Amino acid sequence: MNPETSHDPKRQAPALPPIAMSPRVLLGPGPDMVHPRVTAAMTAPLLGHLDPDFLALMDGTQQLLRYAFRTDNRLSLPISGTGSAGMEAAVASLIEPGDPVLVCINGYFGGRIAEMARRHRGEVETIERPWGEVFGADEVRDALRRRPARVVAIVHAETSTGALQPLQEIAQVVHEAGAILIVDAVTSLGGVPLEVDGWDLDVVYSGTQKCVGAPPGLAPVTIGPRGEAKLSARRTPVDTWYLDLSILQRYWGPERTYHHTAPISLNFALYEALRMIAEEGLEVRWERHLRNAQLLWDGLAELGMSLHVAAGHRLPSLTTVRIPDGVDDAAVRTRLLRDYGIEIGGGLGTLKGRVWRIGLMGYSSRPENVELLLGALRRILRTPEAA
Ligand SMILES: Cc1ncc(COP(=O)(O)O)c(C=O)c1O
Repeated sequence: MNPETSHDPKRQAPALPPIAMSPRVLLGPGPDMVHPRVTAAMTAPLLGHLDPDFLALMDGTQQLLRYAFRTDNRLSLPISGTGSAGMEAAVASLIEPGDPVLVCINGYFGGRIAEMARRHRGEVETIERPWGEVFGADEVRDALRRRPARVVAIVHAETSTGALQPLQEIAQVVHEAGAILIVDAVTSLGGVPLEVDGWDLDVVYSGTQKCVGAPPGLAPVTIGPRGEAKLSARRTPVDTWYLDLSILQRYWGPERTYHHTAPISLNFALYEALRMIAEEGLEVRWERHLRNAQLLWDGLAELGMSLHVAAGHRLPSLTTVRIPDGVDDAAVRTRLLRDYGIEIGGGLGTLKGRVWRIGLMGYSSRPENVELLLGALRRILRTPEAA
């Protein structure tokens, strides 16, 4: 051994322990739990991304995605990347430099869309509502009268606030004004009613780690006829190569032209998760999410806690509950995780320190999880060290 290198740390092979994660009850804003069938799907033997068996799985995934999105859109595909990649693919591909854009902001993720739209050189205007409230169609109409836009973007299910945004009338107003509508459905797809064709939504993106019931890493996207037309009429190339929907559509279209090496195992997981959505049936699944949310809302009320979002606008997949006065936010979440293995989320942005965010999405949305959390909260809030 060379004495000069024997003490050089970068030449010492690290001897680290293998992965040994304790199972968690994931009741936060995502990722949520995945069914063992989905975990098992990821252990299927790896295939080449142009293997005929994988190409057949891509066809099946697209068919299942159309079912989950309730659409006939040809262009329905999973982007390789998390929900933010879906957001950026939609924003970058549909907005051309100089396009007037209207972004509706009533929470953290609306703000992220506006930031992306600016970076892709849209002329962005925003309308805002307090976090926890939703937009009315009139507000969007007025904003478009004040300044017409070519693209409008809005979040269906604001994970930062727990508010569910009605979309149908807004889509109509946007189309009357000659614009197209981009919708963030990251926390709604597979858990909350979403009708892409029925509500005439033009471009909708989501993520796999929430109500869809798969691990994070893919972003289902669907693009309708108006979105396709705007994409093909672009005068300038999309300013990101990886997330350019106009070239990605050739990989996911009949040509199957190589674009990137798809994350095969994650696509197996998504396929199985989507199969489970189809087996359960969308309406039954939406009903399950609502029923378990109602159980949670009733239980929190019994504990004397109040919900941040008014009844009627509450999102079944994500609940924001106000942290009682004098209770230490971080101490309670630490005890939930340490003593019960339960993860819930803290507040984001203006709601930081004011609310907890409880997700009941996909496989996490089960009555036994609700009861476990309520029981744990009851005990923790009774003991003085939580205060
Ligand atoms: C509404 C919404 N949009 C976008 C995102 C971004 O998704 P990701 O964190 O998977 O990139 C999230 C993530 O929580 C979200 O809740």
